[in-house]
Amino acid sequence: MAFSGIAFAVAYSMIRWLGPVFMKAGLKGKDMAKPRRPEIPETMGAVCAVVYLLLLIAFIPFPFYKDIVAATSGGGNRDVVLETHPVETGRFLHRFPHSKLASYLSGLLSLQSIVILGIGDDLLDIRWRHKVLIPAFGAIPMLIVYFVDFGVTHVVVPVPLQRYLGSFVDLGWLYYGYMAAVAIFCPNSINMLAGINGIEVAQSLVIAVLLIINDALYLAPMTPFPHPAMDSHLFSIYFLLPFVGVSLALLCHNWYPSKVFVGDTYCYLAGMVFAVVGILGHFSKTLLLLFIPQIFNFVFSTPQLFGIIPCPRHRLPKFNAVTGLLDASVTEWTVPPSPLIATILEILHRVRLVRVTKNKDGQIVESTNLTILNLWLVWTGPLREDRLALHMVAVQTVCGVIALVIRHRLAFLVFREDNRAFGAHV
Ligand code: UD1
Ligand code: MG
Repeated sequence: MAFSGIAFAVAYSMIRWLGPVFMKAGLKGKDMAKPRRPEIPETMGAVCAVVYLLLLIAFIPFPFYKDIVAATSGGGNRDVVLETHPVETGRFLHRFPHSKLASYLSGLLSLQSIVILGIGDDLLDIRWRHKVLIPAFGAIPMLIVYFVDFGVTHVVVPVPLQRYLGSFVDLGWLYYGYMAAVAIFCPNSINMLAGINGIEVAQSLVIAVLLIINDALYLAPMTPFPHPAMDSHLFSIYFLLPFVGVSLALLCHNWYPSKVFVGDTYCYLAGMVFAVVGILGHFSKTLLLLFIPQIFNFVFSTPQLFGIIPCPRHRLPKFNAVTGLLDASVTEWTVPPSPLIATILEILHRVRLVRVTKNKDGQIVESTNLTILNLWLVWTGPLREDRLALHMVAVQTVCGVIALVIRHRLAFLVFREDNRAFGAHV
């Protein structure tokens, strides 16, 4: 917690001081939802990322202090241990939890790779179809450590299916494919639910806080000590608390009206922090439950991502300079849609998932962009930018809380027990 306080203070002041420096270096972006479209510094997530990574590095001795002492004769004095069977047991350092340190370091390495790639993206504006796979490279270090250290590729089968499949199914290498997919999905989905002031950071903060609450459920006094999953959840807390620190600092500058933009670096960092704690903390399925709005946004976007419906470079809501409100942005159909797509759009229009505009001949000329932000505006009508951001924070919180309650309270309906129950599988 102290480290997170430091993280907040350092990130807060560095973002403030470095704004003009970033502008001078050309790292700036136009705030499209303001009357004059002012230019403000972009890529401020890079500042957060550097502060965050340095603090994680400085933190290394602290969680391992107890083990460092235990692996010696106490107080760091190694002489005593050296006397016993030096050939077989070395310096007794095998008592030191190297695997835990390896997890921590691989998490750090994954985060460092994603930050380098994120900054590259912000500098060069890499094409969307090229950058989706970037996080896969960042995931390799932690997947290797997962393989060597934990290696569990079994999943528990829900009770109704156990008659056919048995209690566990070994997914084998498919499980690694699934984890790589989680690592690709988390960063990209946060980057896609973006475009209005504060939304990237606010959604990440909600997810991080809910994850911390979930972690706390596995620690004393919420559960009898020591719980078998305690170490994984402590690991998760070590990564999440300083992340909350730097994110809060960024939110102070990025909330409406923004003085800085976060850049893709922040979105990637945030997503990768969640992927790292979810995978190395062994709760990737619970993690995905907190991504319901992002999953919805991704699935809803697929027709545009795969080019079935035209996808403009920016799909963020459109600013109306007269009213000062945001309304759903549209994609223009320069060539009229094929009859099949026109029918589908018509149905979606009826069920109020999109809004289409037709010309005199009844041909579709515009349809709203398929993002959750635009959908919300189709439902509520025009909103001010910060109201829309607040609504999204509420949606994220409500979905996350319901998901966690279902996860822990109703788990026994589909599984034999919740893994918080003592002695259960982790
Ligand atoms: C993703 C989205 C894109 C959306 C963009 C907005 C997909 C496939 N891509 O692209 O549709 O328009 O994010 O972030 O879904 N900006 C604002 N106000 C804000 C935040 C950003 O005006 O509060 C604008 C600024 O001009 C900023 C730019 O968005 O410079 C950043 O866009 P960038 O992050 O490069 O877009 P992508 O992540 O590629
Ligand atoms: Mg972006």
